[in-house]
Amino acid sequence: MLSNVNIVLGVTGGIAAYKAVDVVSRLKKLGANVDVIMTKSATKFVTPLTFQSLSQNLVTVDMFAEPKKWEVEHISLAQKADIFLVAPATANIIGKIANGIADDMLTTTIMATKAKVIFAPAMNTNMYRNPIFKENMEKLKTLGYEFIKPASGRLACGDYGEGKMAEPADIVEYIKMHFTKRTLLNKKIVVTAGPTIEKIDPVRYITNFSSGKMGYAIAIEAKKRGADVILISGPTNLDKPDGIKVINVNTTIEMLKAIEEYFDEIDVLIKAAAPLDYRPEVVSDKKIKKQDGSLNIKLVRNPDILAYFGKLKKKQILVGFAAETNDVIENAIKKIRNKNLDFIVANDVTVKNAGFRSNTNIATIIDNKGNVNDYPQMSKEELAKIILDRVEELLS
Ligand SMILES: Cc1cc2nc3c(=O)[nH]c(=O)nc-3n(C[C@H](O)[C@H](O)[C@H](O)COP(=O)(O)O)c2cc1C
Repeated sequence: MLSNVNIVLGVTGGIAAYKAVDVVSRLKKLGANVDVIMTKSATKFVTPLTFQSLSQNLVTVDMFAEPKKWEVEHISLAQKADIFLVAPATANIIGKIANGIADDMLTTTIMATKAKVIFAPAMNTNMYRNPIFKENMEKLKTLGYEFIKPASGRLACGDYGEGKMAEPADIVEYIKMHFTKRTLLNKKIVVTAGPTIEKIDPVRYITNFSSGKMGYAIAIEAKKRGADVILISGPTNLDKPDGIKVINVNTTIEMLKAIEEYFDEIDVLIKAAAPLDYRPEVVSDKKIKKQDGSLNIKLVRNPDILAYFGKLKKKQILVGFAAETNDVIENAIKKIRNKNLDFIVANDVTVKNAGFRSNTNIATIIDNKGNVNDYPQMSKEELAKIILDRVEELLS
């Protein structure tokens, strides 16, 4: 995945330096060549030998050390870098680069590189919130430097809050994103995800088991491919994906209206959500008191979102999902015709490891020409790639 890619990794003096070891190991496993530059402070936390052993390259710290081979090392590394990652990035390094200071090997090399520079900040919450730091970060962002958002949580110093370096797996994902082909650049895509909920009274509602995982995986993959993504999400427990505009909705009608806002300007609508087909006819404004005997709630039809946009469709590619419990293929084919879809991703939600709440799916893709492709069990992330490959074929 990253073979023939040269990554220069700057490691600075924070506790999270130990996590940079994992970053190197993951990048190496993906085939990247990694050259590590450490600041003097960083060597107090982890030894150069650790990075040297994992990267299988010499580690540079001192700009004036006797060179191992004759080349001006900060210039050669600056030129060699396809991407320049600083993880962890201290408040100090960000302040120095924002102000043009080049007083050691790392700062000098960053200053000399034309490669994309990505910082993964790690620091105490008060440092992270310090307006001087914020100003430095904003200045660098406007100059094209990128930042991988730190997480919130318990920090090494014992405080709780923002400033914890992003996890190595997420940092590596971010790097991978830079080398993913930007095949959906200039395309605008709306993805819907999750269930909807319909109120019965102020304390009760009806919903379904949709987790939103499939839709979120599609939105993240589309973003990686360069698309302008809007994720319209019912209530889920998933984190808001970075760099994606998320519109939160509750009801099926709210979901329809949110899509309508964008429909004219989008290229693709992928409806991975499971909106409720029915809603209570009357929503009680007071909590319904329990009584003896049964309670009847009359449900009325919600609008059919896919059919609605199938009628309005002009240039847009429309992708639907069919979560079925029986006659999966027959029902999916009917849906394609009735709703004017380009293709449908069908799955039997009664099968183990497929459908709602599962991390994997077993899908069949059926297109409007009658082609049927069965796929084996795979992660929702893998299926997202297949779905977007099919969308790309249609766009081209
Ligand atoms: C135990 C310890 C932990 C530290 N952790 C951080 C940190 O997470 N983030 C940070 O910005 N500075 C941290 N510092 C302060 C930096 O090491 C200090 O600002 C240093 O000058 C950074 O140098 P560098 O940016 O050249 O590596 C820490 C210092 C110590 C002693």
